[in-house]
Amino acid sequence: MQNYIIRVEEAVQKYRDRDGQMRTVLNNINLRVRRGEFLTVVGPTGCGKSTLLRLILGSEVPFSGKVMVNDVEVKEPSRDRGIVFQKYSLYENRTVRENVMLGLELEQFTIFEPYFRPIKCRRKRKEFREKADIYLERVGLLRHADKHPHQLSGGMRQRAAIAQAMVMQPEVLLMDEPFGALDIGTREAMQVFVLEQWQKDHQTIIFVTHDLEEAIFIGSRIVVLSQYYSDDDGGSTTTHGSMIVKDVQVPWPLPRPTDVKHTKEFNELMMSIRREGLDPDYLQNIKDFDLSHEDAAWWNGGMGWAN
Ligand SMILES: Nc1ncnc2c1ncn2[C@@H]1O[C@H](COP(=O)(O)OP(=O)(O)OP(=O)(O)O)[C@@H](O)[C@H]1O
Ligand SMILES: [Mg+2]
Repeated sequence: MQNYIIRVEEAVQKYRDRDGQMRTVLNNINLRVRRGEFLTVVGPTGCGKSTLLRLILGSEVPFSGKVMVNDVEVKEPSRDRGIVFQKYSLYENRTVRENVMLGLELEQFTIFEPYFRPIKCRRKRKEFREKADIYLERVGLLRHADKHPHQLSGGMRQRAAIAQAMVMQPEVLLMDEPFGALDIGTREAMQVFVLEQWQKDHQTIIFVTHDLEEAIFIGSRIVVLSQYYSDDDGGSTTTHGSMIVKDVQVPWPLPRPTDVKHTKEFNELMMSIRREGLDPDYLQNIKDFDLSHEDAAWWNGGMGWAN
C-alpha cells in the first residue's frame, strides 16, 4: 500500500473572469496526504478552497499540474471519493432513507444495470435499504428515515448528508464547510460526531472550513491556503493565485478534549494562522512560509519545489 493516498503536484487552476481574462486561482499547489489523515484546510473567502476540493474530487481538472489518488491521475469523479457540502445534498422529494440510498441506486441502475429487470431491481433495493439503514443508525437518524429533509433540523440534515456520502464507503471524504450553516452548539456537537466517525473508519478526510477554531480542533494537520503573500516575481494578490502558505501538524493527538480550545498554545496557533494566512496586509514572502509538516513540499529557491 502506498504511503500517500492523495498527491497534488504543482497544480494550477485558472478561470476566465467576466472580462474574458484568465485569472489564476490556485498557484502551484503541492500537497501529499497520507491514508487515514484528517486534514483541514482554511483560508480567506475566495482563495480557492472549494476549487482545491473539486480538483481532488475530479469534477474539474487543473489548468496545469496534476492530482493523483492511489497513484492514478484524477480526471473525473469516482466512488473512492465522496463529498459533503454545506447544503443542497439532499433531495426534498425523497425521504431521508431514499436520499441515503441514492448513490447506490444511481451506480447500480443507471450505469450497470437496466431498470427493466424488476425482480433483480427489487432485490437490490432491499440490499441498498439495509445498507442505508446501517449508516442512518450510525448517524442517529434511523428513526427519522421516513421523514423528508425539511422535517429535520439543520444538524440532522447534515448528518443525513454525511450518511449519504459514507454509505458509498469512499476512501477519501471531502467536506466543504459542512457545518457552515449550523449554530455554534450544533456545530460543536457535529465536530465531535465527525471525529467519532473518523475514528471508526479512519478514512482520509479533507475538511474545508472558514472557522479557524474548528480547523485546529478537528484536524490532525492544517493547511492554510491564501492569496495574501509576496513572491519574488512581484505578483500582486489579485493576479498570482493562492498558495499553501502554512502546512503544520496540529500538536494534540486525536481525539482531543474540547478544552484544548482554551489553551495558550491553541490561541497562539490561531493567531499565527490569522496573521500568516488571513491578513491581507501581512504579505509573507514565499521563502518564509511555515511548511514544517513532515509531508509538506517546501520552496527550494531557484530549484523549485522539493519534498
Ligand atoms: N467555474 C468558475 N468560473 C469562474 N470563476 C470561478 C469558478 N469557480 C470558482 N471561481 C472563482 O475562483 C475563486 C475561488 O473560488 P472558490 O469557490 O474555490 O473559493 P473558496 O475559497 O471556496 O471561497 P469561499 O470561502 O467563499 O467558499 C473565486 O474568486 C471564484 O469566483
Ligand atoms: Mg468554498
